[in-house]
Amino acid sequence: MNNKLLLTHINVEGIRGFDVYRNHGGYTSVDKALKMTPEEILEEVKASGLRGRGGAGFPTGMKWSFLAKPEGVPRYLVVNADESEPGTFKDRFLMEYIPHKLIEGIIISSYCLGTNTSYIYIRGEYSWIPDILEQAIQEAKDNGFLGKNIKNTGYDLEIYVQRGAGAYVCGEETALIESLEGKRGNPRLKPPFPAVKGLYQCPTVVNNVETISSVPSIIEISGAEYAKIGVGRSTGTKLISACGNINKPGVYEIDFNLSVEEFIYSEEYCGGIPNGKKLKACIPGGSSVPIVPAKLLLKTADGETRYMNYESLSLGGFESGTMLGSGGFIVLDEDQCVVRHTMTLARFYNHESCGQCTPCREGTGWLYRILKKIEEGKGTYEDIDLLWDVQSKIEGKTICPLGDAAAWPVAAAIRHFRDEFEWHINNPECLTKNYGIANYACV
Ligand SMILES: Cc1cc2nc3c(=O)[nH]c(=O)nc-3n(C[C@H](O)[C@H](O)[C@H](O)COP(=O)(O)O)c2cc1C
Repeated sequence: MNNKLLLTHINVEGIRGFDVYRNHGGYTSVDKALKMTPEEILEEVKASGLRGRGGAGFPTGMKWSFLAKPEGVPRYLVVNADESEPGTFKDRFLMEYIPHKLIEGIIISSYCLGTNTSYIYIRGEYSWIPDILEQAIQEAKDNGFLGKNIKNTGYDLEIYVQRGAGAYVCGEETALIESLEGKRGNPRLKPPFPAVKGLYQCPTVVNNVETISSVPSIIEISGAEYAKIGVGRSTGTKLISACGNINKPGVYEIDFNLSVEEFIYSEEYCGGIPNGKKLKACIPGGSSVPIVPAKLLLKTADGETRYMNYESLSLGGFESGTMLGSGGFIVLDEDQCVVRHTMTLARFYNHESCGQCTPCREGTGWLYRILKKIEEGKGTYEDIDLLWDVQSKIEGKTICPLGDAAAWPVAAAIRHFRDEFEWHINNPECLTKNYGIANYACV
């Protein structure tokens, strides 16, 4: 069964505009939610089991229940549309093609959280999308769904779109808040958490675009029904942006009980690997999650079928599993060089480190330089051990998880493909010389 909640009407002509969206059932969840109390909405979101789609998978209802509510102090909802993780482009798809889904989700979520001002913080490179969002906001306003006294309920809400300047670290929620305040996007020390002191030192909820866009469906079908779609603690549906060596790159809405094998090989999804090449490895959750070789991707180390959900992908821990993360699914065929690929990622994380924490600022540079040396055929066996040592001194030792994001790909590459690193030590030139995959072109 393939349930569609987010992309149901994606192929309807004109769905980007208010009238067509409304004619296809749009904003009926707002109509319904405004007749409920904020507490009732919170209970539905909790019952749905929705987990944050930004990467960490934290339960959304629980996050909302942590929001402090001191008397006379404003609260904020900030939608994280930074989406800078290589391989991830599903939020862009939602905002570009069905922007009212997000606006509808923001209205319901803001009403539930008691915020009168909400922000969408969007990565600078998505230069054309703020116009689409602002148009949708204006249309919602013209139709009485935003502004003062929404639908005569006495509830007021304004949504503002803020463009980032193109820094990956600004996707981390506290760096995002700093940037939104007009400062350099350096992550903050936690605690205090944003739920207590966030934007302008006021209680704030930061949620991913897809998370908030899922809220209208929860209100429409009820939290209990939403929870029935999925498996275990992976409820609802998930957007996956698939790229790399596959026949049909793109954004797919999947059920969590879909096997990884079916996702890669069936015509409905990725359509297999071009030119009949063999699957070598995959990074299923955006560039920062551990790479898994084909033999551990389709089945776990215990021979169980692997499914596209939070629990199944992480079976075996980092020794033999990985993470669903943000759902940026990158496929590598047999021609791809894992050393070159890991070097490309290391260069990215080194470039994007904000520089606050020494292990990340210095360590990411070391990772990149050692990987480059090995890739260029100038490495030694000791360099592989040094790489392992450096990554282990970054993980868990920084203010924000960008350090982990830089360390995990290197650790997993050495863990599963040490022989390929050794091959590079003994062979001066990388035979694959395949530059194509390294760009993760967003399609
Ligand atoms: C370096 C870094 C980059 C991140 N980038 C994003 C991003 O682009 N979008 C996003 O939603 N979350 C991103 N996150 C996670 C956020 O900090 C935060 O957990 C998320 O926005 C919470 O939303 P959710 O609960 O709806 O997933 C990033 C985290 C880190 C450490």
